[in-house]
Amino acid sequence: MRIRMARSKASRMSSLPTVSRALAAGGLVPLEARILLAHVLGRDRSWIAAHGDADITREQATMFDALARRRRNGEPIAYLVGHREFFGLDLEVTPDVLIPRPETELLVELTLARIAKDTPACVLDLGCGSGAVALALARERPRASVVGAGVSPAAVALCRRNAARLGIANAAFAVSDWFSSVPTEPYDAIVANPPYIAVGDPHLSEGDVRFEPCAALVAGADGLDAIRAIVAAAPAYLVRGHWFAVEHGYDQAERVRALLLGAGFVDVQSARDLAGIFRVTRGRRELIRETLC
Ligand SMILES: C[S@@+](CC[C@H](N)C(=O)[O-])C[C@H]1O[C@@H](n2cnc3c(N)ncnc32)[C@H](O)[C@@H]1O
Repeated sequence: MRIRMARSKASRMSSLPTVSRALAAGGLVPLEARILLAHVLGRDRSWIAAHGDADITREQATMFDALARRRRNGEPIAYLVGHREFFGLDLEVTPDVLIPRPETELLVELTLARIAKDTPACVLDLGCGSGAVALALARERPRASVVGAGVSPAAVALCRRNAARLGIANAAFAVSDWFSSVPTEPYDAIVANPPYIAVGDPHLSEGDVRFEPCAALVAGADGLDAIRAIVAAAPAYLVRGHWFAVEHGYDQAERVRALLLGAGFVDVQSARDLAGIFRVTRGRRELIRETLC
């Protein structure tokens, strides 16, 4: 009798969920499994790696299973855990916004190179999403006033939450259809990471983008509708001699340069991201437009 009780206790013990059993049952690549379990347990990934034998509760195992199933169905990790790191900032992200991409850090770096550290400056970020670009610029340039503009009220509310949680006070956000409702002052720099994928592009049915908002991704038949609208209006909002920079698709650099030149920008050039792809095109508003009589 005593032996039977001991055996049944042992078998109950062996079926208790542990960190390593949960990870193995998740059916995910190890890194993703560890990220999701760390999120459920409120621990970091190094704790997970060091505590494979630790017990977890059945509720925690059930929560992890549910997240693992959603991940197996393709939902982006960032939406499942509600966070993504960008330029050293831990940003809240929701399905209302694009998940910030590492390649967009190029747009931030190029813009920082044009804003002096110790001088006040007004900066405008069009299509603010989670606030990634505006907040990174504001944090790196505390003397600048950064305005982030986005068409989605839910996204703008999220930007404000991110700014408050990160304690970044020199960034403000406005619901605005591009320039329609932003303060009209001439800006010292204007940046944008607008939607730039063409309607029907096969990439839209692959990977994370299937779950991201269409308004953050798609811009007309050739993907350039948003960039065309922004580039046409930008010079009027920019201090003469100052820079406008826009992120675009891997095969759009030449056409975007042509748009900037057509709008009167000078010193137009494209920059490559870490993958060697032309990713950002920028130009300066000319100092004086010469008129021929
Ligand atoms: C590619 S996402 C970039 C988001 C963010 N800047 C980032 O880099 O993670 C493009 C953003 O432009 C916004 N957007 C689309 N159409 C817009 C419009 N007409 N006016 C303002 N923002 C717009 C979308 O809602 C989305 O937040």
